[in-house]
Amino acid sequence: MPPVKAPRSAVDRARAVWRFFGRGLRDFDTTASLVPSSPFLVEAMLRPARLGAARCVVELGTGTGTLTREILARVGPACVVYGVELDPSLADATLRRCADPRLRALRGSAADLARLLEPAHLGAVDAIVSSLGLSLMDEEQRASIVRAAGLALGPGGVFMQYAYLHARWFAYSQARASWFRWRARPFLERHFGAVDGELIVANLPPAVAYACRAPR
Ligand SMILES: C[S@@+](CC[C@H](N)C(=O)[O-])C[C@H]1O[C@@H](n2cnc3c(N)ncnc32)[C@H](O)[C@@H]1O
Repeated sequence: MPPVKAPRSAVDRARAVWRFFGRGLRDFDTTASLVPSSPFLVEAMLRPARLGAARCVVELGTGTGTLTREILARVGPACVVYGVELDPSLADATLRRCADPRLRALRGSAADLARLLEPAHLGAVDAIVSSLGLSLMDEEQRASIVRAAGLALGPGGVFMQYAYLHARWFAYSQARASWFRWRARPFLERHFGAVDGELIVANLPPAVAYACRAPR
């Protein structure tokens, strides 16, 4: 009997997980994780964004495209989706896994969002979905990213961000070679007038998905 071939999607996912794991081992402070987001976290990040009605969506930190694929599955045919990724090899992986005419996969930093977006979309984005490891950044860097996101959002737009639960008590920075603590909610509340959180225990590691509205 010929060997049973694994379905293409399973092989593709295994490759993506492996690639992400490799990047994470090399530069954990940038990837902020060793594995892509679980389907439970993806759902919690995308449900509040009401993507079906969106005309422009931005994803910050596409990694290997786990959230990107699901965003593309939920938005309408005329929606423009920007996928911003700092790591060139991960940006390439997003493009390979998510070939779609609605996707503009961009290599660059989320802090440069104003420059990366077309002028017509600046101030008119319906949802920004961020899986950046804010806890591992310094305060100035994370504040500049969140401010750039606030400026890009349109009226009624939502900024989605997750944070790993354990960072409230302990987290480790490879680059600084030190342990630290970081709480996402007070930081997000300094930048947005309304912040709601949903705890996702079934993620590795458990995380809170925050929906932030009304940039200050
Ligand atoms: C925790 S991973 C999330 C990957 C994927 N979205 C997921 O949920 O599985 C964070 C991603 O953000 C990227 N990243 C880190 N800093 C960034 C920045 N300043 N601008 C854009 N992407 C960045 C990393 O390279 C990494 O791919």
